[in-house]
Amino acid sequence: MPQRQLDWSNLGFEYIRTDACLRADFTNGKWGELAACADPMFSIHAAAVCLHYGQACFEGLKAFRRKDGSAALFRPHENAKRMADTARRVMMEPPPLELFIDAVKKTVALNMDWVPPYGTGASFYVRPLLIGTSPRVGVGPASEYSLFSLGMPVGPYYKNGFFPVKACIQELYDRAAPLGVGNVKVAGNYAAGMYGDFEGKHKGYPICLYLDSACHRYIDEFGTSNFFGITKDDRYVTPDSGSILPSITNRSLQTIAESMGLKVERRKIDIEELPDFKEIGACGTAAVITPVYSVTRGDKVYTFGKENEAGETLTRLFKEIQGIQYGELEDKYGWMLPVGKD
Ligand code: PLP
Ligand code: COI
Repeated sequence: MPQRQLDWSNLGFEYIRTDACLRADFTNGKWGELAACADPMFSIHAAAVCLHYGQACFEGLKAFRRKDGSAALFRPHENAKRMADTARRVMMEPPPLELFIDAVKKTVALNMDWVPPYGTGASFYVRPLLIGTSPRVGVGPASEYSLFSLGMPVGPYYKNGFFPVKACIQELYDRAAPLGVGNVKVAGNYAAGMYGDFEGKHKGYPICLYLDSACHRYIDEFGTSNFFGITKDDRYVTPDSGSILPSITNRSLQTIAESMGLKVERRKIDIEELPDFKEIGACGTAAVITPVYSVTRGDKVYTFGKENEAGETLTRLFKEIQGIQYGELEDKYGWMLPVGKD
């Protein structure tokens, strides 16, 4: 049992300082040793490339306390590959896969007392960060990089957890351009989405849906999660777009949906198709699956299922993925990486 005394069942998605974070530096053309530190503060050059020219990217993944008391990370190799893809896109030094895996495993192992107990619905969120640290004033890539990994216990991203939320379509501000960097996890994407997301929240919509920024006709994704819908004839449909993040959760749900006998379609989704869906979900590491009850576009409101209850298919998908994550169901796809205290 964890020694920490937190109200595990009522955690939000907030920063909490835990015991240790990990750091490795890339200097003189090679990665150094991974080191653990208790203090999450560090000093940085005021001319560091990450601060001026945005060479910063991150990942998000979760560890779960399983039914048998052990802890395991969900698909960390996929996050390692995605961080490397992101790094290459913005000319950063990609951390080797083994270094990334070592960092995230140690983040869990050294903070094991912060991994929430089984049965609370909470999990341990791991946040790897990569930044270009060397000083530069002309635009160009840094020659030195730091990889950090920190983690903390979290509850649901949207306060009611697996409960329908209202979404609005944000058309005053785009978040990602075609052929831009929406398909990778650079920090600047989240700054680009903040104004739109906050404007939506202010109007009473916890989540904003973005359309393709070229013509505002096709569905892209939510600010921090992918879009998927279940059609009235039971197909799982999710956008095929070059400007959305390839979500590991979405890919996992597609596998599960297929195993449940649903047909999976990855294709452009015209906004006019919204009435064809009986259920809509936002999916991602932080959001897991968040059912979407309504989507508002100007004065038009599309609704999906019941306001106070998740739909049947989303519920089955949610139970299946969480069942695998919490060790209640067989890990038949080999998605969980056990982490020990060593
Ligand atoms: N889309 C965006 C913009 C995100 O930030 C995230 C979260 O990482 C996702 C989708 C979901 O991706 P994943 O399921 O890999 O967490
Ligand atoms: C995640 O789901 O891990 C994300 O990165 C989304 C958000 C918290 C930035």
